[in-house]
Amino acid sequence: MAEPILQVRGLVKHYPLTQGIVFRKQIGAVKAVDGVDFELAAGETLGIVGESGCGKSTVAKMLVNLEKPTAGEIAYKGEDVTRLSGRALKAVRRNIQMVFQDPYTSLNPRMTVGDIIGEPYEIHPEVAPKGDRRRKVQDLLDVVGLNPEYINRYPHQFSGGQRQRIGIARGLALRPEIIVADEPVSALDVSVQAQVINLMDRLQTEFDLSYVFIAHDLSIVRHISDRVGVMYLGRIVEIGRDAEIYDHPTHPYTQALLSAVPVPDPEAREHRERIILFGDVPSPANIPSGCRFRTRCWKAKERCALEVPLLAVPAEFRHEAAGPAAHDSACHFAEEKQVVPPEEPQEESKKESPAEPVDKIQDEPTDDVK
Ligand SMILES: Nc1ncnc2c1ncn2[C@@H]1O[C@H](COP(=O)(O)OP(=O)(O)O)[C@@H](O)[C@H]1O
Ligand SMILES: [Mg+2]
Repeated sequence: MAEPILQVRGLVKHYPLTQGIVFRKQIGAVKAVDGVDFELAAGETLGIVGESGCGKSTVAKMLVNLEKPTAGEIAYKGEDVTRLSGRALKAVRRNIQMVFQDPYTSLNPRMTVGDIIGEPYEIHPEVAPKGDRRRKVQDLLDVVGLNPEYINRYPHQFSGGQRQRIGIARGLALRPEIIVADEPVSALDVSVQAQVINLMDRLQTEFDLSYVFIAHDLSIVRHISDRVGVMYLGRIVEIGRDAEIYDHPTHPYTQALLSAVPVPDPEAREHRERIILFGDVPSPANIPSGCRFRTRCWKAKERCALEVPLLAVPAEFRHEAAGPAAHDSACHFAEEKQVVPPEEPQEESKKESPAEPVDKIQDEPTDDVK
């Protein structure tokens, strides 16, 4: 396998928990990200999913250098970017851009669309000389399906989907190789979500992009991801090729998340088991010993409190495991076939597609400027 474009090893972000106003004393740490490993191949999309608060945005911010890791390594083409500074860091940052979650708050309301999309050129003037910028921004508007004549309008004149197109255009301005998209469609209407995902899919081919695509829901990343990683309390608990994760999830948390994904076919819905997790997600300031999922897991045994399960390839998938395409699951009992909690009957319709494919809706930008 070719060297991955991005390699993340042991990534950690702990925020100190302090007490006292004058003499701040550290009394603990919020373990927002607590040992994350993954690789991203060139041209690939890695979906990262998990409930709110599990550390997805913190990982994204570290990838684009908006947060400094407490520990760990982020290697871009083999070079650890967490150790770079100055010019070398700037060159790498140009190649890893972010698309933010909320297009309503992430665009400056007092700047025109042209200034928003062209802002990265202020930091990297070498990419577009001043005289060239307006044309470049208009090209970008066209590329994301917006009318280039809108260049002088303000964000409030656009719909949510259009604003996210503006955010994407801005992310593309420096022609990056990697885009980290942090829940890019979560704030949008369901009908618009598919349009934006389809746009990103098309841009990936057009611009040779690699994506880290974050979502809180497995159904959103299915269409666009080659591989999917599932996060729980600051760690990836299962990662693998998209078909492996959706059709043969081996971590109980993934199984529970998948059981909550809407099924369009009513018959399949009848046969499907819902796995209801008990309890709340523990606080990242107070992570359970051993397996961090054990307090909510119906498979948990004594061993789970004592031993931290590592991401490893379950035996049944080992033969076809090749590099990062392998299917890894951080569960001591990943090899057990049992998919539903013991008191429930065995699921029969697992082969049914768990989610409505998002690509059914046409990718048609709407030009409904208010
Ligand atoms: N700057 C910060 N200071 C302290 N805690 C933080 C900070 N940023 C995030 N957290 C905490 O880290 C955890 C992970 O947050 P985040 O990465 O935003 O999760 P997600 O994007 O998955 O919802 C949460 O418990 C959050 O409250
Ligand atoms: Mg987030």
